[in-house]
Amino acid sequence: MTNILLVTSSPRGSEGLSTRFSREIAEGLKARLGGSLMTRDLTSNPAPHIGQAYIQGRVAAPEKRTPEQVKAVTLAQELVEEVKAADVVVLGSSMINFGPSSQLKAWFDHITWPGVTFGYSEAGSPQGWLTGKKVYLVTAAGGVFSEGEWAAFDFQTGYLRHLLGFIGLTDVDIVSVEGTVFGPEPAKAAIAATDAQVRAVLEKAA
Ligand SMILES: Cc1cc2nc3c(=O)[nH]c(=O)nc-3n(C[C@H](O)[C@H](O)[C@H](O)COP(=O)(O)O)c2cc1C
Repeated sequence: MTNILLVTSSPRGSEGLSTRFSREIAEGLKARLGGSLMTRDLTSNPAPHIGQAYIQGRVAAPEKRTPEQVKAVTLAQELVEEVKAADVVVLGSSMINFGPSSQLKAWFDHITWPGVTFGYSEAGSPQGWLTGKKVYLVTAAGGVFSEGEWAAFDFQTGYLRHLLGFIGLTDVDIVSVEGTVFGPEPAKAAIAATDAQVRAVLEKAA
């Protein structure tokens, strides 16, 4: 039985290409592998920015937490549990001002939690604890970043790969859609190229 967690975060909601392709992957995996599909929709149900209640609450003894701290820590625990319960995580990410959306950043800020999702070895090196899971990361960008002069400004893909690896999610396949802002024909070609990537991912997983 495969537990799949789909996390969507496009500010454009269901119109987002990252939403569309990550959903196609998650639903395609479920159709092929069976099991369950849980969706965390960060657009309609965003995690708040982290603040004092979360930062102080997560280090406070549970019985000493204020109601605000309990609320903030409970949400973080819920988000962590969703990832822990998953065998496969499918993540949709939109490039917004050269990085991921703040919706997705807020999710990472909740689940990147010392002593819960990562720790340090005796020698002081970081160790991610959310191990043994497969991740499919779908990145959507208006421009082209896979090659050419804008490649250096993709602060989305490498950043997300690093964050995922930091918490132990190291087995990551990336599906990208890019170059959708240069008119209808390039957008059509970009979407067709991503359709092919999705098909390849699903064929490999089956
Ligand atoms: C507020 C905003 C900021 C954006 N910033 C960038 C950017 O920095 N670089 C880029 O190539 N495209 C940018 N875009 C275009 C999006 O990356 C593109 O529409 C992508 O498909 C968004 O992901 P989604 O389809 O999952 O919503 C931006 C779009 C919006 C609405």
